[in-house]
Amino acid sequence: PLPIIIDTDPGQDDAVAILLALASPEFEVLGITAVAGNVPLALTEKNARKICELAGKPETKVFAGAIRPMVRPLVTAEEVHGKTGLDGPVLPEPQMPLQGQYAVDFIVETIMSRPAGTVTLCTLGPLTNIGLALVREPRIAGRVKQIVAMGGGYFEQGNVTPAAEFNIYVDPHAARLVFDSGIPVTLIPLDCTHQALTTAKRVEAFRRMPNKSGPATAAMLDFFERFDENKYGTDGGPLHDPCVIAWLLKPELFKGRLVNVSVECESELTMGATVIDWWHVTKRPANVTVIREVEADGFFHLLAERIARLP
Ligand code: BDR
Ligand code: CA
Repeated sequence: PLPIIIDTDPGQDDAVAILLALASPEFEVLGITAVAGNVPLALTEKNARKICELAGKPETKVFAGAIRPMVRPLVTAEEVHGKTGLDGPVLPEPQMPLQGQYAVDFIVETIMSRPAGTVTLCTLGPLTNIGLALVREPRIAGRVKQIVAMGGGYFEQGNVTPAAEFNIYVDPHAARLVFDSGIPVTLIPLDCTHQALTTAKRVEAFRRMPNKSGPATAAMLDFFERFDENKYGTDGGPLHDPCVIAWLLKPELFKGRLVNVSVECESELTMGATVIDWWHVTKRPANVTVIREVEADGFFHLLAERIARLP
């Protein structure tokens, strides 16, 4: 199986991504590292543990990482995810422990101690933990197999400001460090996730499952999509973070292009914008494969098939 670390700020869509990963034998989940983002760190690490227990995998190692972005103050998104970050389903308080080690140290130690080119980082939130890991131990850049990240946008551009997507906006300095690190990056922007809509029919498939995880997923999606449905008037909201895990499982469902991406870190107006050089007008090297399309029915089919395997 592919060894992965999931770096995340759950978040209902993060939670569904974690369920998808834990349900898939193609992965060895080395650890889940929580970061401040959708809600503060104390909630994201707890939510990660709730989800591991829901998946019947309380032995999963969950670590707490950065409490705030590298440079800017923390911006959260309770208006999207609710006060707990995981509003919707009723889940018990987690019994499994939080690991004592700092997430950034776990990331560095894992990458340095495993064979070079083997560990994949799946990032579902602001890139603070990865940015800090790169500062602490720059040699990890030559050892990570790849980073698959949800973040950014070009036509769809911004969901938190007109110019910026949430994960990049919250920690643009970390995103810039990661994109400039030399690690192969695959980026799943809003333009892709806005094709993966949680329509009523798709959500119904989860609600009808005879396990616990299916209806809990439906409850999370119901809560999460209210925001986007009201905002954009679509049937269902975009399901962002599970696309990262799905891309690793079935890349044939996606289409992308290898280009240069840089991140705006200076202008208040466009802070966190992903600037994509589609036409090679700069001499900057291609550093990111930007995913532009997802085959949505295939994606939801995969997700349902996997979530159905869980308790
Ligand atoms: C991203 O922001 C968060 O609110 C979601 O969990 C997702 O990672 C979408 O912009
Ligand atoms: Ca997220």
